[in-house]
Amino acid sequence: MPTVAPPQILPVSGRTVRLISTGSCLPEKVLTNTDLEKMVETSDEWITTRTGIRERRIAPDTQASSDLATAAATKALESAGIDGSDIELIIVATITPDMLFPSTACLVQQNLGASRAIAFDIEAACSGFIYALEIARQFLQSGAVSTALVIGSEKLSSIIDWTDRNTCVLFGDGAGAAILRADNTSGTTETPDGTGAILASELGADGSRNTLLSMPGGGSRIPASTRSLSEGLHFLKMDGKETFKNAIQAMSAAARRVLDSAGLTIADVRWIVPHQANQRILTAVGEKLGASPEQLFMNVDRFGNTSAASIGIAMDELIRAGHARKGDRILLLAFGAGLTWAAMLLEW
Ligand code: UT7
Repeated sequence: MPTVAPPQILPVSGRTVRLISTGSCLPEKVLTNTDLEKMVETSDEWITTRTGIRERRIAPDTQASSDLATAAATKALESAGIDGSDIELIIVATITPDMLFPSTACLVQQNLGASRAIAFDIEAACSGFIYALEIARQFLQSGAVSTALVIGSEKLSSIIDWTDRNTCVLFGDGAGAAILRADNTSGTTETPDGTGAILASELGADGSRNTLLSMPGGGSRIPASTRSLSEGLHFLKMDGKETFKNAIQAMSAAARRVLDSAGLTIADVRWIVPHQANQRILTAVGEKLGASPEQLFMNVDRFGNTSAASIGIAMDELIRAGHARKGDRILLLAFGAGLTWAAMLLEW
C-alpha cells in the first residue's frame, strides 16, 4: 500500500480547460469466459465472481495500438466538429506501443494528418489516461497550445501469456480518446455547452512497488533474446492480491484529496468513472468513499481491464448514452503499475 501519499494536488487556476468530446474503438472479436474455459483451467463462475468480467475484446493481428488509437481519435474529432489539422498536441498513453520507438503518437499524427501537432507517448500504465489529460491541461492552460488530443490505447492481448490463468482472464484491447480545449483568454468559452471543465486533479507514484505489476523483458535491462523468450519475460507479470489491496487504498485516498481540494464531498459527485480493473475493487472504492452504487460507472463486465484505455472508453460510453448532464460532477480515478495513481474532477 502506498505508505507515503505525497499530496500532489495540481493547482487548477487561470484559463479553464475543457474536455469537449470523446471517442472510442473496441475490436469486434469478443472473447467470452466460456471461450477461456477451453484455453486454461478456469470457469465462468470463478472469473465472474472474482472480477465481474464476462467478456473482453481482442484485436486481430492486423490491428496494433496505433490503429485502435486512430479510430478512437477519429470519432472524437468528428464529435468535436474539427479535423486533424486543428490538433496541436497528441499524447498517447499506452503500455503496448506499436514498437519501442518511434512513439505511437507519431504514428497517430500521420494517420490523422495532424501535421501541426507535437506528438509523444506517456507510460503510466492504467493511470495513463488521467496522466495524459493532466499533461495536456498544463499545455493548454499555459497557452502553449489551444487544442489537444489525448488517447489511451492498448493491445494487451499482445503481452498476455495465454497459458497463465492468473492474468489472461483479466485483460482486453481497446482505445478511448478525448479532445481538450482551453477557454479563450478573455474568460469566455469557445467550446459548446455540455462539456467538462477540469476542476482539480492529482497524480501520484510509488516506485518502491515497481515489481507488483510489470513486463520485465524487451527493455534495456533484459533485451529480447532466446533466453528472455524461453523464460516468458515478454509477458505481463502481476502479484494480483497485493495489486488488489493497493488499488483500493490508492484510488480512495486520491479521490478524497481531490474532493477536499475542490471543497466538495462525494455527495456532490454524480459519476465516478474509475479505471475498470475489477468490479470488486471498484465496489470497494465506492464503499470506502461512501458513494452509492448508482454513482459508479462500470463496463468491466463487457471489456475487462483495458489499462490506459479504460477511462477513455468509459467516458465515451457515458457521454454518448447521454448520462452526463449539465452541472454533473464527474470523478475520474485510476491506479496501475509503477505504482501510479491519479484522480481528476470534471464539471459538465
Ligand atoms: O489495472 C490494475 C491491474 N490489475 C488489477 O487490478 C488486478 C488486481 N487483482 C485482482 O483483481 C485479483 O487479485 C485477481 C482477480 C487477480 C485474483 O483474485 P483473488 O481473489 O485475489 O484470487 P487469488 O489470487 O487469491 O487466487 C485464488 C485461487 C488460487 O488458487 P489456490 O492457490 O488458492 O489453489 C489461484 O490459483 O484462484 C486461483 N485462480 C484461478 N482459478 C480459476 C487464479 N486465477 C484463476 C482463474 N480461474 N482464472
